Amino acid sequence: MSVSTPSQSHDRRIAYALLEISNYVGSVMELHDILQTICEIGARSIGTDTCSIYLLDDDEPDFLVLSASKGLSRAQELGVRGFRLGEGVPGWAAQHNQTVVLDDARNDPRYARLDDLPHEEVYMAYICTPIRIQETVVGVLTIRRTQSHWREDEAIFAEIVAKQAAIVIEKARLYHQKIDAERLAAIAISLSEVAHYIKNILQNLMGGGFLIEKGLGAQDIERTTRGWQLLKPNVQKIQNLVENMLYYARETRCQLEPAPLNPILTTLAEESREALAERDIQLNVTIDESIPTLLLDVSTIHDAILNLLSNARDAIPEGQSGVIELRSEFHRASNTVRICIRDNGNGIPADVQKKMFNLFFSTKGKGGTGIGLAATRKIVDEHGGHMCFDTKIGEGTTFFIELPVPRPGELRPMD
Ligand SMILES: Nc1ncnc2c1ncn2[C@@H]1O[C@H](COP(=O)(O)OP(=O)(O)OP(=O)(O)O)[C@@H](O)[C@H]1O
Ligand SMILES: [Mg+2]
Repeated sequence: MSVSTPSQSHDRRIAYALLEISNYVGSVMELHDILQTICEIGARSIGTDTCSIYLLDDDEPDFLVLSASKGLSRAQELGVRGFRLGEGVPGWAAQHNQTVVLDDARNDPRYARLDDLPHEEVYMAYICTPIRIQETVVGVLTIRRTQSHWREDEAIFAEIVAKQAAIVIEKARLYHQKIDAERLAAIAISLSEVAHYIKNILQNLMGGGFLIEKGLGAQDIERTTRGWQLLKPNVQKIQNLVENMLYYARETRCQLEPAPLNPILTTLAEESREALAERDIQLNVTIDESIPTLLLDVSTIHDAILNLLSNARDAIPEGQSGVIELRSEFHRASNTVRICIRDNGNGIPADVQKKMFNLFFSTKGKGGTGIGLAATRKIVDEHGGHMCFDTKIGEGTTFFIELPVPRPGELRPMD
């Protein structure tokens, strides 16, 4: 390395660059944006052509990924992604946890040419310095230029910039850890709500069981019937809860097979009509007979619509008569099928609309777990469809499930 005396203006440029970088370190920008800004300031203030930051990959811990760069964007486009540990000058600096300063890398055995990189051989003066968090190397900062005399203060400057980058990276990691911890805490709270919901159902099951036992003992058919009426909807609730949890949590996707949609709606109507009538809710079903065969996972799409029917029922205040409409429509122009579930219930306030698809969001206290809409949306997504809704406070809500109609060639089971 040749050493020359820094000029006063050069000193000032570096001092200002450090001040500028330290301002960004304290900012709330995204990690990638700050690293990119650090590279740009680093290159500008030292008068170089390229300044890049490579970080060790989370999934492949011996691979340095190009994470931010001034001057290497062309390389990024061409797919130059980074170096293995020990490979090239950056790989050597990371593996040996040492700064490397080279006036001409071509004479150095550690140099590995980046194929595909135009003008690669022009930028042969290298400073590569490890980025460390508490002595653990997490990446490398590389500064390169055509001119081949590095001054000592330039190498020190690169090391200080790498330290600033390390602070930013550590701050971002701590922030993500905090978010993860908060998310886990939120899930734990929600699980305790789900447990309360199950406890509530169990109480009803036990109450129903008690009535049945007493009714049977006394040959009292009326008491036995009351017991069964209490038991039956709660068995259904437990079944829905477990199925929704499974749909939401499972890794496997819906198994799509060619199937008609309308029989699912008529089955749902038969299953729900009586229970709705007991709540003084009338169920109207309108079927469009022209709907072509779709690719469906019949039992999951059945449960998705059932979730929306249950929500429609819950939206109609107890003691008030209501109407729910279940409709299928074929939209030829867009080659889609639409399932509409409309209620004349309370409508959905704006603040609820924003959160209602979130897992575990419910306004029903002990009467809901907040899994229904999240599971429904997942099922509809896996059918290649989408959901939307229209609501008016005091007038009611319509949920729409829109599903694509497959082209004739697609009418075979999908993986
Ligand atoms: N048709 C509707 N009318 C009014 N509010 C609705 C309607 N559908 C959903 N919501 C609101 O969205 C929330 C979330 O619905 P979601 O189905 O996910 O959970 P839930 O019904 O509360 O519980 P469950 O897991 O038992 O379905 C509901 O608690 C309710 O506030
Ligand atoms: Mg629900």
